[in-house]
Amino acid sequence: MPVMGLGTWELTQDTAGAVALALALGYRLIDTSSDYGTQPGIGEGRKESNIDRKSLYIVTKVEEMDDAYERTKSNMQELGLDYVDLMLLHRPPPTGAGEELWEGLISAKKEGLTRDIGVSNYPMALIETLIELSGEVPAVNQIEWSPFGYSREMMQYCKEKNIVIQAYSLLTRRKRLHDRMLMQVAEQYHKSPAQILIRWNLQLGTVPIPKANQSKHLEENIDVFDFELDEDDMRLLNSLNEQYSSLGSLPYV
Ligand SMILES: NC(=O)c1ccc[n+]([C@@H]2O[C@H](COP(=O)([O-])OP(=O)(O)OC[C@H]3O[C@@H](n4cnc5c(N)ncnc54)[C@H](OP(=O)(O)O)[C@@H]3O)[C@@H](O)[C@H]2O)c1
Repeated sequence: MPVMGLGTWELTQDTAGAVALALALGYRLIDTSSDYGTQPGIGEGRKESNIDRKSLYIVTKVEEMDDAYERTKSNMQELGLDYVDLMLLHRPPPTGAGEELWEGLISAKKEGLTRDIGVSNYPMALIETLIELSGEVPAVNQIEWSPFGYSREMMQYCKEKNIVIQAYSLLTRRKRLHDRMLMQVAEQYHKSPAQILIRWNLQLGTVPIPKANQSKHLEENIDVFDFELDEDDMRLLNSLNEQYSSLGSLPYV
């Protein structure tokens, strides 16, 4: 799995053009969902860019009320792909752990429609339920994750189970980019606050998927491989945790 990717929720202004630019800049993981409206544009952008399919990692999702197997197929169709790389259960259903959805994804994986399967917005207890039921460990838990809101327990648990954390809304949907401490760290490295949030994730081993529609943001967000946050600054960023969520609440804690 690539170490970072591009989020596409609300990436609706010339989706194909933005995706083609992202691929040209070096992004290789793209996150989407059937309810984002970006799957057709991602397909077009990929075709324009002529990048080898095997080097791409396309992530998409199934909703609570879906038939997981059928949704995998229709997502593939919208994306213009003959397989996806990762199918996620978008969120746990109101009751249960999504056992039936999980079985559907396992079937889709067995048939080669998706390479990996995983979950999103799942607390540890519900992940355990799925593992006990099927013996199949999710490859990923995609969750909201920034220095302002994360969970050490979830990180430890995922490490033990070999589950990758994909970090969404890691730029806090811009809401905390002017945080005083964050800005101080950014100034020190001559980088932007967004770049610091991305770099914090990379050094933690979580996979950031920042969304950017504007070209300057697409460029800035992948320009994060020429510096390293030192231990003190990682500690300082870690200490900002207040279980903040730009969406309302962290569903996994
Ligand atoms: N699984 C789930 O339930 C779930 C939930 C939420 C999100 N996600 C996924 O995670 C992705 C990222 O999360 P998100 O879209 O909620 O929020 P985000 O990535 O935290 O923030 C996106 C916002 O930040 C702006 N931005 C991007 N780069 C910037 C930069 N360098 N400087 C300043 N502003 C910048 C974007 O502007 P422009 O677009 O104008 O460039 C956009 O307004 C989503 O797109 C989606 O793929 C998944």
